[in-house]
Amino acid sequence: MVLLRTKHELREWTADKAGRPRILVPTMGALHAGHTSLMDLAVKRAADGDVLATIFVNPTQFGPNEDFDAYPRQLKADLELCSDHGVTAVFAPEADEMYFNDTTISVQESRLSHRLCGASRPGHFDGVCTIVTKLFILTQPTAVIFGEKDFQQLAVIRRMVRDLDFPVEVFGGTTVRESDGLAMSSRNAYLSDEERAAAPIIEKTLREVAAGIASDRYSSPQTARTALAEGIASERLARIDYVDVVDASTLETLETFEGAIPRLVAAVFFGKTRLIDNVGLPEGRD
Ligand code: PAF
Repeated sequence: MVLLRTKHELREWTADKAGRPRILVPTMGALHAGHTSLMDLAVKRAADGDVLATIFVNPTQFGPNEDFDAYPRQLKADLELCSDHGVTAVFAPEADEMYFNDTTISVQESRLSHRLCGASRPGHFDGVCTIVTKLFILTQPTAVIFGEKDFQQLAVIRRMVRDLDFPVEVFGGTTVRESDGLAMSSRNAYLSDEERAAAPIIEKTLREVAAGIASDRYSSPQTARTALAEGIASERLARIDYVDVVDASTLETLETFEGAIPRLVAAVFFGKTRLIDNVGLPEGRD
């Protein structure tokens, strides 16, 4: 496995591998089983091509009061995981390699990205779209893999690829969970023991309500949303940022189940830690 630290090294590497399938797995590091499952998927899809992972804590997607400085950084351990999971090369630049101090151009999506996490974290998806665009231009992948845990991010990137004609296939990788259902996330490390014990309420409630929708327990998306909010709020340590039942492709709040593919989404604070999760309807219904 090759470690590439500069754009120049990356360009030389991509030129050398020209014409081969190349699957990109963008990450911010602090890798866990959720990320390595994306790498495993990439290795399977790449066949005789290359898997390029990127590790970059992207400053432009963090708000001023968010956890950019605290975000876990563990390059050595991350590189070992990448190597163990068959990644061909890792691009891990410093921030000044990726951004100029006086950068004036960014990439913005103006509908899907303004709801849900975008409403709570203004500018977050501008940062994501900008860095992913730069990574697409620099790495020229044939395909890219993102985790479904960041369901809105996946939808925004699909829209960006469609609207900007990036010649890149986008794949989503299933969310990997701890044994008690909590979605794996680098931010789980911030939780106290008590918060960690409380956090599985998110997945438990999402699944219960999804099963309820599948068995016609709720007369409308609104009643399902209320059940989501009540279920999660039953946990004393949970502070809801949002819960919603949305259309899986437009992310618009559903007004009716008629003809819809619902996705249940939630963002919940435990102390200062904000966790997100989402589920579709049980097998056969989503
Ligand atoms: O999902 C992430 O880890 C980040 O948002 C991404 C896609 C690597 C862009 O910085």
